[in-house]
Amino acid sequence: MIGIISAMQEEMQALLNELRNTKTTTKGMRNYYTGTLYNKEVVLVFSRWGKVASAATTTQLINDFEVSEIIFTGVAGGIIDELNIGDIVIGKHLYQHDLDAQPFYKQFEVPILKKLYFETQNTSRLLSATKLFINQYDLFVNREDAQNFSITKPNVILGDIASGDQFISSLDKIKNLNKSLPSVSCVEMEGASVAQVCFEYDVQFSIIRIISDKANDNAHIDFAKFMHVIASQYALGILKNYFA
Ligand code: ADE
Repeated sequence: MIGIISAMQEEMQALLNELRNTKTTTKGMRNYYTGTLYNKEVVLVFSRWGKVASAATTTQLINDFEVSEIIFTGVAGGIIDELNIGDIVIGKHLYQHDLDAQPFYKQFEVPILKKLYFETQNTSRLLSATKLFINQYDLFVNREDAQNFSITKPNVILGDIASGDQFISSLDKIKNLNKSLPSVSCVEMEGASVAQVCFEYDVQFSIIRIISDKANDNAHIDFAKFMHVIASQYALGILKNYFA
């Protein structure tokens, strides 16, 4: 069984629409939708925002649904010039940018585990699936919707991601992150906590992040619309290829 998590229902609505033989289980205020997606047995769940919510959801997925692999899909704020709205980051190393147990541990180091970041698996397969999706873009994304968000041809990179319980929307915060975590390309609020739980339970983990904003003063776009017409369609197109 493969677990698929998003922070918001809108980010996975297109996947939910394609799910067959759906069965819903409610636990801890979350709905877990099991069924078949493109001939794979999956369980879909939206975790809500933040590291606690996503870690709790991940633990439940692993213990109650016996998943062997978890894929997170959702939006992120780009913090490097090369990334534009509509681009995709396939995560490589996942940092918790708000974790600081100094002077006992180095900044960002996860206590006891002695890890500064968690590494993802299956990245080359996910990267190939994403490149194929970009070539098939018009099959999944309405051109007018893409134009409304000024997206022409999206780009995909393999990049590092930083997670924290903060929505980043200032240049000062971006500058601090660029300085302290120079390899990081985008920010979000769940990936590294899901990665930590997967590491602790020895479950494979990978992550797709679609750039919804540039984490600056203009970061307040119409998120609900972006998730519905862009991010959720990307998740569908990419995972269809990944499962093929
Ligand atoms: N998810 C999408 N955009 C984000 C941002 N700017 N900061 C944190 N999480 C995000």
